Amino acid sequence: QIYSRIMATGSALPERVLTNADLEKFVDTSDEWIHSRTGIRQRHVVVEGETTGDLATLAAQRALDAAGVKAADLDLIILGTTTPDIIFPSTACLVQHRLGANGCAAFDVNAACSGFVYALGIADKFIRSGQSKKVLVIGAETLTRMVDWTERETCVLFGDGAGAVVLEASDEPGIYATCLHADGGHKELLYNPVGVSVGFKDEPNHGVRIRMSGREVFKVAVKTLDSLVEETLNAAGMDASQLDWLIPHQANLRIIEATAKRLNMPMEQVIVTVDKHANTSSGSVPLALDFAVRSGKVKRGQNLLLEAFGGGFTWASALLRY
Ligand code: ACO
Repeated sequence: QIYSRIMATGSALPERVLTNADLEKFVDTSDEWIHSRTGIRQRHVVVEGETTGDLATLAAQRALDAAGVKAADLDLIILGTTTPDIIFPSTACLVQHRLGANGCAAFDVNAACSGFVYALGIADKFIRSGQSKKVLVIGAETLTRMVDWTERETCVLFGDGAGAVVLEASDEPGIYATCLHADGGHKELLYNPVGVSVGFKDEPNHGVRIRMSGREVFKVAVKTLDSLVEETLNAAGMDASQLDWLIPHQANLRIIEATAKRLNMPMEQVIVTVDKHANTSSGSVPLALDFAVRSGKVKRGQNLLLEAFGGGFTWASALLRY
């Protein structure tokens, strides 16, 4: 049996940091409100000219360096994003060229905040089928490009960043199971109203903004993640006591705590970066993973449960041995 195994991880964040105190200066909000409801203290924000592709390329190069893999040896690049540099070519193609991996397959996956975990699930299928041997999977976003800084309900929640992993075909696990889901019936609870057929209005940022019913999203996310983690454990034939780490999507500390509780995992076994990065959508899980690996928390041989929930709705998970 062929498994896909993570060889190494990498990540990238914009240098510019906006703390909650910085936001207080131009948004009608407070550090107390933001932190008590979300766990967020600060977020990294791109400057003019800095793009999703820039962050993705940097994260990918760091993952390749850590893996000791040359870009030319990759046979597939999948990039999860909902904030591509341009509509086409895909950001995966832009990154491929910058890395020097020209010729291999490359495409984007738009599953909103679940983009990286979706991409990981797809990459796993390519490797298991024998089609690919070395795959670069990236989650990269510049969500703050969509943020309307006059809408305090949403603007305090998001940040920019990217993470990447290099996967290789292996006889040993590896990824045990991935679960991917979507329900397009909840579009109006979380969306960006602008695309090639709608929008580009004569409004600030051409009408590009994040529309979100926070409370409803919160409720659906907690419930959905409950059943997702159960399904993932079943698919892998494991129980929660075999997990070493939960690496959740970093949208809201309260959602993360609810999932940990469901798994009976103490918060010491949960990777939390939402305080420093806020919600970086597809960037959040691979950023948290890279942080956990490089800080020495996650070690080889440990079992990790990755999960995400986002606009669509989409939700996805992966249970793997690092
Ligand atoms: N600063 C201060 N006050 C605010 C702010 C702010 N930034 N935003 C809203 N408020 C006020 C509102 O005006 C409202 O005031 P009112 O009660 O006088 O009308 C009140 O705070 C709203 O409070 P609640 O609705 O009780 O806020 P809640 O506890 O639900 O927290 C939040 C809101 C943080 C958005 C929460 O619902 C949440 O996290 N939801 C999940 C959202 C999420 O995770 N989205 C992303 C996941 S999917 C993805 O990643 C794309």
